[in-house]
Amino acid sequence: PEMVENVQEMVRRDPSCIPERYIIKNHDDRPKIAPVALDIPVVDLSLLSQGNEDELKRLDLACTDWGFFQVINHGVAEEVLHRMKNTISSFFELPFEEKNKYAMMSPNIYGQAQSFVPVMNEELKLDWGDALLFKNLSGLEKREYWPPGLKDAIEAYSAEVKTVSKRLLCALSLTMGMDKESLQGMHKDGLEILRVNYYPTCCMPDLVLGVSPHSDVGSVTILTQDDETTGLQIRHGEGWVSVKPIPNAFLVNIGDSIEIWSNGKYQSIEHRAVTNKYKPRISIASFTLPSYDMELEPLDHMVDLLNPQKMYKKIKFGDYLMAYVMKKLDGKAHTKLA
Ligand code: SIN
Ligand code: FE2
Repeated sequence: PEMVENVQEMVRRDPSCIPERYIIKNHDDRPKIAPVALDIPVVDLSLLSQGNEDELKRLDLACTDWGFFQVINHGVAEEVLHRMKNTISSFFELPFEEKNKYAMMSPNIYGQAQSFVPVMNEELKLDWGDALLFKNLSGLEKREYWPPGLKDAIEAYSAEVKTVSKRLLCALSLTMGMDKESLQGMHKDGLEILRVNYYPTCCMPDLVLGVSPHSDVGSVTILTQDDETTGLQIRHGEGWVSVKPIPNAFLVNIGDSIEIWSNGKYQSIEHRAVTNKYKPRISIASFTLPSYDMELEPLDHMVDLLNPQKMYKKIKFGDYLMAYVMKKLDGKAHTKLA
């Protein structure tokens, strides 16, 4: 993989400079202001966990019609969310050298650059954003150097998000017609990955994308974002819509793994992030990934006369993930290999 320049530093040096490699040539692919979707489904996690039938139905419809929903009553203390957001913003305000010191000393971090530049290829467009990637959250303590407060904030946040993810997998097991514990069993050795995105301001936000269109590969992605600065756009109907975050709610989306297991009933929806002129934006995405040796293929009971098997080729999740990270993000193109 290629190390790319830190976008935040590039903007700090010269806010008016947009190198060629960031500019999207095809006008149709350039970001446009997308209408705010007011009807993104909202589900109540507390009701889901009680097995409330109406709420489970709401979740089922959300996954079928949108692939995205906001989660309220998730039980995660506001204090943990605020501390995480504040600590992450302070981290990005540190001088570059300080951040870089941290990146280099941290075995689990893939640097302070984008992680999705798979190959050396000058033609490849770059995203207007920096990312921090953490995996194996239980192994965080092994690092030698942590900027003040970062480790504690991440651990507290990740522990809570893991609980939310488990509760969602229980609810989804039920809506997919299985025993409550079924999906969790398919994630026994699965990784939890945390990706922190930082999108610096851009003087011409119409020319670049913070994150290129893609769908997520795992089961569920749990996103925390800035309450005020929107930037996430999701594919809905013929075009893109933007999401207005509910303060302190999580935005959750279904990934390819669940789409495939559900034989396409639940949708893994393409999304992208746009930038803006005035304020940097931070988002924190937690990916729940199946065990690497789990087969991705429609589950038997999701296939019947009314729902014939869709064209997904059987592939182990680990191989699917590998194929995904080796390619430039490109909408749902990679699901075709399945
Ligand atoms: C992503 O899909 O990784 C980015 C989401 C966001 O920044 O809102
Ligand atoms: Fe994503």
